[in-house]
Amino acid sequence: MIRDLQQQIFELKKERDICILAHSYMSEEICEVADFTGDSYALSVKAKTVPQSTVIMCGVRFMAETVKMFSPGKKVILANPAAGCPMAEQFGKEEILRIKKENPDIAVVAYVNTTAELKTVADVCVTSSSAVKICRVMPEKNILFIPDINLGTYVKSQVPEKNFKLLSGGCPVHAKAGREEAIKAKAAHPDALFLVHPECRAEVVELADFVGSTSGIMDFAEKSEAKEFIIGTENAIVQHLQFKCRNKKFYPLSKDFVCRDMKITTLPDVLNCVLGRGGEEIVLEEGLRKKAVKCIERMIELGG
Ligand code: 13P
Ligand code: SF4
Repeated sequence: MIRDLQQQIFELKKERDICILAHSYMSEEICEVADFTGDSYALSVKAKTVPQSTVIMCGVRFMAETVKMFSPGKKVILANPAAGCPMAEQFGKEEILRIKKENPDIAVVAYVNTTAELKTVADVCVTSSSAVKICRVMPEKNILFIPDINLGTYVKSQVPEKNFKLLSGGCPVHAKAGREEAIKAKAAHPDALFLVHPECRAEVVELADFVGSTSGIMDFAEKSEAKEFIIGTENAIVQHLQFKCRNKKFYPLSKDFVCRDMKITTLPDVLNCVLGRGGEEIVLEEGLRKKAVKCIERMIELGG
């Protein structure tokens, strides 16, 4: 059944000039039909160069918006219209503009997990894999980091030469484990390395052996000599690693690390999109698109 659906998708996407992009939190069967899978940074870079006329994004809304920002002439489809990222909606543009007015020398660094509208007031965008590097190399000294307080706290610890103002947003999924769960998991698997996403709480991040993006965690585990790992990010990564590294063991930090928004997209959704009867076409007003894309362009310029 899964193979039949995948076969149809392979044939149709070629026939109809469609590119499928999938975030690393997608299921194994969706990643298998994608032309490209990766973390938010890699997907943003890829969004600039896809040659096909239609792009289907298997991920959440802000990821599809990023593709549209770079490719206004392409048809960009979010595979499941219900897939949003709750963190992206946590702050409004007015609040950020008010803080900017009170602190005229502050540069707004926006995590890519933000709406297109919020990106219009950001000076630069960052992802979990590029945030440290970008905050280090950008010339501005005073930074308002929005919206994730955990990623912001981690970046602040790595870039002590800059001044950070943080807001209290964050990912509700990664917030589900604290120090207690981390200590318990480490005690249950004493030989395992502890790999975490910087969206985890600071008290979890400080116990980690490695901190990185979804792709960063996967690369680290694949290349490591170690044989066991506790994975502190969405549990799709545990499953991908189990498929990739058959001689290694992977344990989830928490069984609550399940993102409902990332789980909502199914293989039949992808098939419906390639058939032209599913998903949602992303439309961005041209003025908004032009303003919002600037901070992502700058991210790629500074991030390399
Ligand atoms: P990455 O940039 O690490 O892929 O993370 C995206 C995300 O939504 C994590 O929750
Ligand atoms: Fe958003 Fe968290 Fe889900 Fe990532 S895991 S998409 S940050 S809610």
